[in-house]
Amino acid sequence: MVPDNDIIRAVAEAIEGFRLVVVASGAGTSKESGVPTFRDALEGLWADFDPEELATPQAFQRNPDLVWSWYMERYRKVQSVKPNPGHYAIASLEELYPQVTVLTQNVDGLHAVAGSTDVVELHGSIRRFKCFAACRGEPTRVDIAQLEVTEEKAPLCPYCATAKVRPDVVWFGELLPVAALERARALSEKCDVFVVVGTSGVVEPAASLPRIARAHGITVIEINPEETLVSRYADFCLRGPSGEMLPRLIQALRALRQGDHAERAI
Ligand code: OAD
Repeated sequence: MVPDNDIIRAVAEAIEGFRLVVVASGAGTSKESGVPTFRDALEGLWADFDPEELATPQAFQRNPDLVWSWYMERYRKVQSVKPNPGHYAIASLEELYPQVTVLTQNVDGLHAVAGSTDVVELHGSIRRFKCFAACRGEPTRVDIAQLEVTEEKAPLCPYCATAKVRPDVVWFGELLPVAALERARALSEKCDVFVVVGTSGVVEPAASLPRIARAHGITVIEINPEETLVSRYADFCLRGPSGEMLPRLIQALRALRQGDHAERAI
């Protein structure tokens, strides 16, 4: 049952006066853009693979062209989709709050496309590529537009001409970018509002961030059609799709602000 306006207004009233907002987003945020969630992505011809076979350094070393083909399919898909109203609502928070930071597990880059200006990509980006051997240091970025690239074969790194080029995403068994995780943890301790959108709260260390916020007495709001492992840490749960819930929350916040101005104007 999608929340009624009273709940949306209660959430808006609870967070209206704050300053520093963190939005922690997962794959559900991009679902309404047509981007399959990580586990959805193994549909069709990839259905008989499991992520461990495709999203690990070992899988890439074992069969670089197979992993490359899967990521190129997802990369082309991401290039063809648009942000949804949920992404735009998150971006518009910057008109209402002095500081808004998005901590995303998503690799599709859609928050930046929608206009969010401070996005921490905890799991990297499928739109960026790098040398598998980090021949010029981690990460050795590679612009695949400068290469003869096919969908089927992982190209050689243009710098070392030895290692293959791989997507700049965090694979299973790999550490998250240190600076990104440190910043995410610091913000989760000191923000005023922590909004968790479209994540099952399963994958660590991203899943620890709402717990950190809660432990620091920060208001936690979950937006997800379903109950998740995050729900127990949330002060409010808006049970609905982010593409609908977030615009309604922005609308309620704007109404409060207009109400304020109207009062002050009298
Ligand atoms: P999941 O696929 O685990 O969870 C997606 C969440 O989105 C679920 O809780 C859904 O209920 C919710 N959801 C579905 N549709 C939604 C909608 N329209 N609006 C809001 N929520 C919706 O995705 P993540 O939690 O992001 O890691 O998965 C985290 C990580 O798992 C991925 O980043 C990936 C994978 O291992 C790496 O690649 C390192």
